[in-house]
Amino acid sequence: MSDKLTATNTLRATRILSVKTESPTTKTFTFKDKLCAKAKPGQFLMLWIPRVDEIPLSIMNTEGTSVSVTVKAVGDATQALHKMKSGETVGLRGPFGNNFTENTSRVLMVGGGTGNAPLLFLAKRLAAKAKRLALVIGAKTKNELLFLNQLEALCTEQSTIATTEDGSYGLKCLATEPLDKLLNKEKFDMIYACGPEPMIRQVFDLTEKRGIPMEASLERLMRCGIGLCGSCVIGKYRVCRDGPVFTAAQLREVKDELGISKLGFDGNRIPL
Ligand SMILES: Cc1cc2nc3c(=O)[nH]c(=O)nc-3n(C[C@H](O)[C@H](O)[C@H](O)COP(=O)(O)OP(=O)(O)OC[C@H]3O[C@@H](n4cnc5c(N)ncnc54)[C@H](O)[C@@H]3O)c2cc1C
Ligand code: FES
Repeated sequence: MSDKLTATNTLRATRILSVKTESPTTKTFTFKDKLCAKAKPGQFLMLWIPRVDEIPLSIMNTEGTSVSVTVKAVGDATQALHKMKSGETVGLRGPFGNNFTENTSRVLMVGGGTGNAPLLFLAKRLAAKAKRLALVIGAKTKNELLFLNQLEALCTEQSTIATTEDGSYGLKCLATEPLDKLLNKEKFDMIYACGPEPMIRQVFDLTEKRGIPMEASLERLMRCGIGLCGSCVIGKYRVCRDGPVFTAAQLREVKDELGISKLGFDGNRIPL
């Protein structure tokens, strides 16, 4: 193991600096950690919640020596984390994985759920540089359109489309519907996608038809985070080591699994 990996893979105890409620189910946690504070958009960290579990989380922001993650409460570990307060201790490893390339031409981001967190980190990097920065964002309901205002403020004026499944905000449909129309109208040099995998699959299918370069961040079950245990495999790739960001060419290679199934911790395949 290289010295660099040894350092990033060492579990560091740190205190929660702040907790911010983003939606009824989602909170942002900020910690001090010099290594994770050097992360690039797309990378993730492993967060140890004492006495519960260690889970992978995308990095949402870095500032000085602090790092933030945005977490949706879905099960034991995330619910336990949601109960934690500033000053309490957690453990961190990372940052791990690769990052989004930072294309500065005409860029479109497509996001959903907590996938908007790494896209916000990316948008902050691209805002001042990209020729055009557009966004299509979708959620079940208005409350779950995470970071809509922040993302809108970073994008080129009048270039954000929001959708909700219940019609409580924006267009009442899935994000992929207006995306299809937008791609017929406008030329983009790069699409960055992060969110539920069925959404990523549809974005992939739409961009493949048109030959548009795309990068998507994928999630798989993770234990080690450093390419050793094999729990995060998709095709010939290990998402923690070879991803989590994959190019259109790589997504093509794993098309039989993309948006369709993943491995469970018991090694059986789970439908997505
Ligand atoms: C690279 C990556 C980045 C992620 N970024 C975020 C993020 O920014 N914000 C966020 O809220 N969530 C993120 N997740 C998902 C997050 O890791 C899971 O929601 C969390 O592990 C659930 O744990 P739990 O004990 O609360 O729920 P559980 O009840 O244990 O699981 C609920 C669901 O979460 C998923 N999950 C459980 N354990 C893991 C694991 N070890 N690795 C991956 N998925 C798991 C499974 O799909 C499971 O069905 C990310 C996952 C990956 C792989
Ligand atoms: S999480 Fe162990 S190999 Fe990826």
